[in-house]
Amino acid sequence: MANKLFIPGPTEVRKEILVELSHPQIGHRTQEFRDLFASLKPGLKELFFTNNDVLISTSSGSGFWEAAIRCCVNKKVLHAVNGAFSKKWADVSERCGREVTQVKFDSGKAVKADDIDKALSSGEFEAFCMVHNETSTGVASNLEDISSVMKKYPHVLFFVDAVSSLAGIKIEVDKLGIDICLASSQKALALPAGIAVASVSARAYKKAETVQGRGYYFDILELKKMYDKDETPYTPSIPHLYALKKQLERISAEGVENRFKRHKEMAEYVRKWALDKGFEMFAEKGYESNTVSCIANTKKLDFKAMKKEMAKKGYSTDSGYGKLNEKLEAKGKATTFRIAHMGDLTLDEVKDMLTEMERFF
Ligand SMILES: Cc1ncc(COP(=O)(O)O)c(C=O)c1O
Repeated sequence: MANKLFIPGPTEVRKEILVELSHPQIGHRTQEFRDLFASLKPGLKELFFTNNDVLISTSSGSGFWEAAIRCCVNKKVLHAVNGAFSKKWADVSERCGREVTQVKFDSGKAVKADDIDKALSSGEFEAFCMVHNETSTGVASNLEDISSVMKKYPHVLFFVDAVSSLAGIKIEVDKLGIDICLASSQKALALPAGIAVASVSARAYKKAETVQGRGYYFDILELKKMYDKDETPYTPSIPHLYALKKQLERISAEGVENRFKRHKEMAEYVRKWALDKGFEMFAEKGYESNTVSCIANTKKLDFKAMKKEMAKKGYSTDSGYGKLNEKLEAKGKATTFRIAHMGDLTLDEVKDMLTEMERFF
């Protein structure tokens, strides 16, 4: 039997979802496909709290990083960098040939609105990019605070990576004024890896019309043209779409607010467990993520060895984000380990896993 995943992606996928992947294939230019595609739209919009389109790409989430930059930035873009994934997105923007300015925050710290305000006040940026939930450090920044700042700069597009938070933490895209909010399937959505979803505002489409060299595969205008016909520009991963349909039905049956509440309860339990066991949270207080807990291994336990033992017991666990731990080790600081509690996992499953883990303390 496969191990149960407590790693921050890919996450555990339920059997009811896995069977959807074996649905007989259909042509992607048929009415049956269009009906399937159209059926996904309402549930996706509810998940993003938006009236914007929610585009689907047969790629992982990073594909939409590139889409946002290549389609909506001519020259200058501002990135908040507070961990490995936000750093990587900034790197992608550079590789796309854009002029990137980074506002850096220490690992474990959240993106702070005042610093973003200061950087944007120069008036030179077309877009601002940030990662809502830094999976490498377990930090969830406050989107409301940032959104208030963004409202002072209406000409600047607001792009948010919600890869490891969408469907686990509430993100009200329209209220927050997010132009592109992107996520991967294999995190809190609890689907197999292989598709990504992104809400895209009318402003973002309008900007794209002014940008040359958008390419084809990730061109949001190509995707939009076909989205309006309930199709995709090219052959999508149809099995994933069946799985997504089923998952949206399951999310609706649970109730989206209940889903967020379940994530909060799991996170609070893990945080208390970690402190009770004598560890410290790595994330800045008040910004701890509800989908992944990053814990400072202040007790200096051998988490690499523990990971192996946990695997024998049927659990896939994490021994920390590699590069972050290397940096911490070099500074003589406590390394980290992460406990993911996202997707369809329940509090009881989290408790069972932690009970098993405690045997090694
Ligand atoms: C916050 C965040 N952004 C982006 C990515 C990259 O996503 P993907 O692997 O789906 O391209 C990850 C992957 O873990 C992530 O955690």
